Amino acid sequence: MAPDRSQETVAVGSDHAGYLLKERFKKELESMGYRVSDMGTDSEESCDYPDFALAVAHAVSRGEAGRGVLICGTGAGMAMVANKVPGVRAVAANEPYTAEYCRRHNDANILTVGSRVIGEDDALEIMRIFMSTDFEAGRHAARLDKMKDAERAHMKEC
Ligand code: RB5
Repeated sequence: MAPDRSQETVAVGSDHAGYLLKERFKKELESMGYRVSDMGTDSEESCDYPDFALAVAHAVSRGEAGRGVLICGTGAGMAMVANKVPGVRAVAANEPYTAEYCRRHNDANILTVGSRVIGEDDALEIMRIFMSTDFEAGRHAARLDKMKDAERAHMKEC
């Protein structure tokens, strides 16, 4: 039986560089059965990627979204900002292997991609892999606990 994804909300966000790809991602996520929460931006007008990274990261951190997807020119700036928020494990994945294994081994909860680094078809494939891959737990669970310990030791609660 196909998994029921209608209960999972995916928060999406981009800056101007990622706007067009975000619109494609929204359609694809909806066709995969997810509820989509669009945190902006709303056009290709120049804007600041941290604003949208924080909106998506807060939604994931607070449990309003199960996972998030962020797009900027490289994917890097979005990941850097999102990872400042407690509970967020954002990964910049511009190829499929990282997208798959950051889910399997690291339980990443936000994917970031770079619209100026990869083409639309590759980005869509990476997003599908990220969304359809589960955390393996097992030996990786203890490592994730260490990551959470590090977060508690070094970051303030939001
Ligand atoms: C915008 O020009 C660009 O700096 C931004 O999209 C992103 O790549 C930052 O990390």
